Amino acid sequence: MTLVPISHSSSEVPSLGRRQFMNLLTFGAVTGVALGALYPVVRYFIPPREAGSSGGAMALDELGNPIAASGWLAGHSEGDRSLVQGLKGDPTYLIVDGEGAIGAIGLNAICTHLGCVVPWNSGENKFICPCHGSQYDPEGAVVRGPAPLPLALAHVAVQGERVLLSTWSESDPRTGEKPWWS
Ligand code: FES
Repeated sequence: MTLVPISHSSSEVPSLGRRQFMNLLTFGAVTGVALGALYPVVRYFIPPREAGSSGGAMALDELGNPIAASGWLAGHSEGDRSLVQGLKGDPTYLIVDGEGAIGAIGLNAICTHLGCVVPWNSGENKFICPCHGSQYDPEGAVVRGPAPLPLALAHVAVQGERVLLSTWSESDPRTGEKPWWS
């Protein structure tokens, strides 16, 4: 049997390129129309994150659902520090204060050393970072390095059942200085 080599004439190559280009164009147009049509549907199912003109956000649970203040207080006693999803999705501690209410200050749980999430240790009454041993007091001030800075703060406001977090841009009450995080 004789094998005959397949050859392309020079006019075939541009036509293949044109076909691919047309396919690409059609795919792009169809995808664009589909995404345009889906956008309102997708938006409908995404819960609103923003909470008013202050640029704040609702505190969310681990599933991304807004937490309800009464439910939170039913499950967390005085002195409790537990995490919610806060501003920009950062893990943020809500603090149950002595009045049995959610306190007005939230603590960003991201360690100021290299960014690990710092757990609350109620037995030690401190935040203790598992990565390199930094420790923070119950208000987030550094008591042991290598963390160079206190935990960032966020404002917490309770409006009915909604728990709202917003940026802390005033001076840091722990240091009296400008906040390092803004
Ligand atoms: Fe927390 Fe290093 S990241 S001590």
